[in-house]
Amino acid sequence: MHRLLLFAALPLALASPLDVRQASTTSTAAAATPTVPYASDDPNDSFYEQFNEPGAIPEPQRGSTGGNILGPDNRPLDMQNPDTLAPPSTDAGDIANSKWPFTLSHNRLQTGGWARQQNVHDMPIATALAGVNMRLEAGAYRELHWHTAAEWSYVIAGSCRISSVDQLGRNYLADVYPGDLWYFPAGIPHSLQGLNDTADGCEFLLVFDNGEFSEDDTFLLTDWLAHVPKEVIAKNFQLDISLFDHIPGRELYIFPGNVPPPLAQDTVSDPNGQVPEPFSFPFSQVTVTPLQGGSVKIADSRTFQIATTIIVAEVIVDPGAMRELHWHPTMPEWSYFLEGEARLTSFAASATARTFNYQAGDIAYIPPAYGHYIENIGNTTVKYLEIFNTDIYQDISLTQWLALTPPEVVQAHLQLPLDVIQSFNKSKVTVI
Ligand SMILES: *[C@@H]1O[C@H](CO)[C@@H](O)[C@H](O)[C@H]1NC(C)=O
Ligand SMILES: *[C@@H]1O[C@H](CO)[C@@H](O)[C@H](O)[C@H]1NC(C)=O
Ligand SMILES: *[C@@H]1O[C@H](CO)[C@@H](O)[C@H](O)[C@H]1NC(C)=O
Ligand SMILES: *[C@@H]1O[C@H](CO)[C@@H](O)[C@H](O)[C@H]1NC(C)=O
Repeated sequence: MHRLLLFAALPLALASPLDVRQASTTSTAAAATPTVPYASDDPNDSFYEQFNEPGAIPEPQRGSTGGNILGPDNRPLDMQNPDTLAPPSTDAGDIANSKWPFTLSHNRLQTGGWARQQNVHDMPIATALAGVNMRLEAGAYRELHWHTAAEWSYVIAGSCRISSVDQLGRNYLADVYPGDLWYFPAGIPHSLQGLNDTADGCEFLLVFDNGEFSEDDTFLLTDWLAHVPKEVIAKNFQLDISLFDHIPGRELYIFPGNVPPPLAQDTVSDPNGQVPEPFSFPFSQVTVTPLQGGSVKIADSRTFQIATTIIVAEVIVDPGAMRELHWHPTMPEWSYFLEGEARLTSFAASATARTFNYQAGDIAYIPPAYGHYIENIGNTTVKYLEIFNTDIYQDISLTQWLALTPPEVVQAHLQLPLDVIQSFNKSKVTVI
């Protein structure tokens, strides 16, 4: 069923080499003698569907290779990772682990919410970006703080109020809703608070432009003042020292609070004005670009101007469809899966490729220039975020590259009929 769907979604020009040869007889392929053997015609589908059939016992077997498992094994993980247990034979060499489920991250539970993170220590390949999944109950605060990395966020559920003041004393206060973004440049102080309108508080994804970033290593208001002599604090504010009798003796980090009044009543008038480029962006209201097999929308520094080091593409891939073969010229990609079942093969040059599977709540990491695709291998929509450590979204489409190259050049490499090459789409299809 799954393969039928997949092929139904593919135009002739992208079907397998076998199908193309059978279907197109109108022009002759180059009669070159290959200097290397042809690639195998055998398909290497993901075994996701068969591993998840009722009563199925996943086994590491593909064709005549492999064998069954005699010893103990974590079957639920096999069912989620069929392309790790029985990889396509096109996988070769070694690419460091590129999958991290937030489920495996230590969770920091506090009164008012929780936070769990992934950084380079969890997934060593992810050197440029790190992520945090955080929950704040209604009224709860992620306390006033700052850090050395820039912070980008996508609201997953509920709503929050964000506050900030920049280096010129200009303030910013906004409410954000599911699918909206915020961004605080490195060193700019801010706070987050759960609202109580669309849900009890909020949950969000945070991404930082440094793979070493740790959410447990931020500059917190309370931690700082707990480490300054009291008379210095009193002198700083020119107040009596007794007024500081109840400041916390250690950090709060996340703590409960009252739901704030409506935004208009909560704003603090600022003689220095508001920040010129808003720290939040109503990405949920941006219109998606429909595509053959899904849709996409992008927020980068052309629309969300302050976000100069982290940008996003929100991608939907329909069942049977895939995000086409492509790469990003110089940008590391940190992806977060919101829905569905996906497979991705990362190609690292030098005959090195490895396939991974992703579910909702998982992170993928693809180093700059690595070729890849994201295939929907389930029965439901795949929705995910492609997040990059850069300012402008860029990708190179394999099909568009070949469509815009003299066809005899492409034919000399791939032995496809010229009319097939000439039918390749000169526009990016993105999701097919
Ligand atoms: C796909 O898997 C089979 C084993 O089932 C293998 O023999 C074949 O060579 C693989 N196909 C490709 C294109 O590598
Ligand atoms: C949130 O709203 C609900 C329903 O209006 C209410 O019962 C609850 O007390 C509110 N929570 C907070 C923390 O204010
Ligand atoms: C996907 O849909 C097909 C056809 O309806 C069904 O046979 C299969 O069991 C489904 N797979 C999963 C994992 O739900
Ligand atoms: C080529 O791609 C564009 C952009 O995605 C799409 O609108 C168009 O229908 C495609 N053309 C063909 C012939 O598939």
